[in-house]
Amino acid sequence: MADDQTNRWVGDALVTIEGGEPVHVALERSLRAAVREGRLRPGDPLPPSRALARDLGVSRWVVTQAYGALVAEGALDARTGAGTRVAATSWPTLTATRAVAPPVQPRPAFDLGPGVPDLRHLPRAAWVAAVRTAVASATPGDLVAPDPRGVPALRQALADRLAVTRAVLVDADAVVVTHGAADGMTRLASALRAAGHDSVLVEDPSWPRLRDVAAAAGLRPVPVPVDADGVDTDALVAAAGRTGARVALVTPSHQFPVGAALAPARREALVRWARSVDGVVVEDDYDAEFRYDRRPVAALRALAPDRVALLGSLSKTLAAGFGVGWLVPPDDVPAARAGLDVRTSAPPSLHQLACAALLADGAYDRHLRSARARYRRRRAALLVALERHLPGLPVTGLSAGLHVVLGLPAGVDENRVARLAARRDVRAMPAARYRIAPVASAPALVVGYGNLVDARLDEAVARLAAAVAEAT
Ligand SMILES: Cc1ncc(COP(=O)(O)O)c(C=O)c1O
Repeated sequence: MADDQTNRWVGDALVTIEGGEPVHVALERSLRAAVREGRLRPGDPLPPSRALARDLGVSRWVVTQAYGALVAEGALDARTGAGTRVAATSWPTLTATRAVAPPVQPRPAFDLGPGVPDLRHLPRAAWVAAVRTAVASATPGDLVAPDPRGVPALRQALADRLAVTRAVLVDADAVVVTHGAADGMTRLASALRAAGHDSVLVEDPSWPRLRDVAAAAGLRPVPVPVDADGVDTDALVAAAGRTGARVALVTPSHQFPVGAALAPARREALVRWARSVDGVVVEDDYDAEFRYDRRPVAALRALAPDRVALLGSLSKTLAAGFGVGWLVPPDDVPAARAGLDVRTSAPPSLHQLACAALLADGAYDRHLRSARARYRRRRAALLVALERHLPGLPVTGLSAGLHVVLGLPAGVDENRVARLAARRDVRAMPAARYRIAPVASAPALVVGYGNLVDARLDEAVARLAAAVAEAT
């Protein structure tokens, strides 16, 4: 063992061997770091093992062991007669990686962006307990070759919840665990593409990510307008007739971002259309848990399990970082089920088991109850602040979810307001971000209140008002 620290230059790299670990391991680690950090570059020669051993005061065996391990990893090349060099195609150095990494966007102090739940109130203790339960109770079957459609315990927990909270009666076997709604959409769109579909009717405006992943899987988005009753089903049927599209992606319970619930007559019209064309309705049920002024609307899937695929995730109730969602394919569209389980693998089984434990022991329900009360209070405080700082501007989409739509004075450029708000450390989304067709519509901002510290809410709105005033 090296008894203290030894430093030697190898080419341009200072190799440090610290005490406390076998010397050949220390040398290997130090050389690897030198390559990764770009201090030794591809093609650089390393000293002959005998010379380096002498320099370091170690046996030659130590050096040949370290070189041998790095050659096996592909970091070094050893050719007879040519000595040992850093491999020409060695790993990207950390410096190179840093150069291509996207800059990290600092989160603004006043986050009025939509879509992020309150991260300060994650049920961390309950999650730790759930992880413990998962680790303690995982069976060999859970740990080796788990079902790619998800572990049975989580599929069952999800099926149970969907029955109680969304009136969706589904066998656990029909639930597919995904990495989230976007992953569910990717899988479904790929399956439908493989079955010959080439387009998808999408709400305009809508969340870009889901239509983008559908497009990436080969389904061309066809925009359909939205009004205060949700997606315009007459326009949808017309667009379907024009384009031959037989898949529709919608947010019936809470249109994103407008905030409308799909009117009952339109729900029926949508189902009628899907049945008449052998089509599929994909229901993005993204924030069904948060309803304030009205009774929760049952999922569209409850009305037509034959034609409706349901997408959901933990992204709004817990955080996107959980990376867990679900997909229930329509009962009567075999093509929509084909290969769902093999397109991407399920989340790690231990993580799924922990989610199952969280959902099953009531901690998740308690979290949802207190989150709902918190968001309801915060929404009321937001309305008071908007009335104080931006009196008279229309606020819509209030009855559910984690955001509202704030109409701006006519003629104001919503993008400019967002930019001016950003200068004041406030994040708010111009409504244009979600639109597809470049129609002239009243300027608006989508204002989220999920991840805003209560004590900062009034200040956030005051700053936003200053941005609106500057842009007016
Ligand atoms: C409309 C909509 N659907 C779904 C989601 C959730 O997507 P995922 O589960 O992929 O995080 C979001 C999240 O922002 C959303 O805004």
